[in-house]
Amino acid sequence: MSKDIIKDRILVIDFGSQYTQLIARRVREIGVYCEIYHYKSSLSAIKKFNPQGIILSGGPETVKQKGSPKVPDKLFDLGIPVLGICYGMQTIAKQLGGKVELAKKREFGHADLSLKNLASGLFKGIKKKSINVWMSHGDHVSRLPKGFKSCARSSNSPIAALFHPTKKIFGLQFHPEVTHTPQGKKILKNFVRDICNCEGLWNPKGIISKNIVEIRERVGSDQVLLGLSGGVDSAVVAALLSKAIGDQLTCVFVDNGLLRLNEGDQVMQTFKDNFGIKVKRANSGNQFLRELKGKKDPEHKRKAIGKTFIDVFLKEAKKRKKIKWLAQGTIYPDVIESAGNQNGTAHVIKSHHNVGGLPDYLNLPVIEPLKDLFKDEVRKIGLELGLPREILFRHPFPGPGLGVRILGEIKKEYIRVLQLADDIYIKELVEAGYYDKVSQAFAVFLPVKSVGVVGDSRRYEYVIALRAVETVDFMTAKSAALPHSFLEKVSNRIMNEIPEVSRVTYDISSKPPSTIEWE
Ligand code: XMP
Repeated sequence: MSKDIIKDRILVIDFGSQYTQLIARRVREIGVYCEIYHYKSSLSAIKKFNPQGIILSGGPETVKQKGSPKVPDKLFDLGIPVLGICYGMQTIAKQLGGKVELAKKREFGHADLSLKNLASGLFKGIKKKSINVWMSHGDHVSRLPKGFKSCARSSNSPIAALFHPTKKIFGLQFHPEVTHTPQGKKILKNFVRDICNCEGLWNPKGIISKNIVEIRERVGSDQVLLGLSGGVDSAVVAALLSKAIGDQLTCVFVDNGLLRLNEGDQVMQTFKDNFGIKVKRANSGNQFLRELKGKKDPEHKRKAIGKTFIDVFLKEAKKRKKIKWLAQGTIYPDVIESAGNQNGTAHVIKSHHNVGGLPDYLNLPVIEPLKDLFKDEVRKIGLELGLPREILFRHPFPGPGLGVRILGEIKKEYIRVLQLADDIYIKELVEAGYYDKVSQAFAVFLPVKSVGVVGDSRRYEYVIALRAVETVDFMTAKSAALPHSFLEKVSNRIMNEIPEVSRVTYDISSKPPSTIEWE
């Protein structure tokens, strides 16, 4: 298999919009490889990437301000199709001699767009004269640059989309990348596939084949070590490496005793039994408990867990003298978010690692086969590689595990109670069809005692809090409005089945000011 799946490629130039990553994900969903560069990237860096099309993202700035962000003027002379979205369209208009003004009214949310000029090709296949779109802007283009035409209007913007009939330069005032613009994907597809002439080569099968070739080329006959956590990213790296290099891969799974009920066994079952991967399970729950003894402060607990993880992992790694590479599950958003991409040299990757400083300690080169992929792509290739859905679509789980869901000092007894309560809650969520609707759900153990009554006797036991949140980016979140009857059922089950619990509460706090985890 050749590496040709990235032959056709789109460049997204980022002006700081919250939707920039979404644009790139949509282009990839359309089957075309793309990357994100900062708007300060130099013309030569852009040319070197050799894109077949360029998309200028939205952004929080206004082109009306002096020194506002822009792309190199010569970008428009390269003969490469350009699509500007929101701020991207406004900078096109301004840089090419048009005029942008503050709109009389800020447009935010749904808007009806009348399509005027279908000749642009962007709206090909859209039969309706008026479409529903998502707007988020304060400025609008009031005069077209020379040679451009308007191809859509909204009640607030007479020029809600523009194009140049021969230069293949386009602008959209609205956001085609968000799902609130139902025809958005079609519009992006028209741009990427028809106008830029990109073939749809970027798909899970192709990504896997390309990765396998690259991994084999890099690693040769060397041995590779991977820290397996049970999370999506390391699971997919394991499956991919196993396919590429078979038993040259060794995994170390640090079972810290702070995992969900039976999680350790499930990880072993999946990788050792089903995939035949060499996995060393380092059962170190007692070591973690010893290190955590007496520690109540969340940060002290986090540090102790992180340090113990490294100690255990290194001990296992050092036993394996033949290891020449360390594999990691870094994904593209990690790379973008840590990129000092201001100087036009594309991605300057900081030494990002998921497992807490291991590369520096081990002094091994790192292999990161997922570093070009978004999370949804990682899941898709995981499915293609035959990983179970339960691993691929599981809610996120923090590195310190139940260690940050037991408030204060951690005790073995608390872990067991929490595992059981969490398991009941999650199974009920799955059964009721809520699991996939919420972004993250879990139980929390509160080491305070509360009075209850069971039959004729008094119970004086612990409290369990249930949490479920809805969020897009985990930076802000709101409590999920689960039905009262559902919560009541979960509460009854927890108290009937776990004698150490006498009260169950539901956490209705939003983030901010709360956080998602309790510690
Ligand atoms: P917070 O509690 O900060 O959580 O609102 C946001 C998201 O991050 C996860 N989280 C962690 N993940 N190590 C991790 O790997 C941690 O120490 C950690 N703390 C929080 C949390 O589960 C949520 O998805």
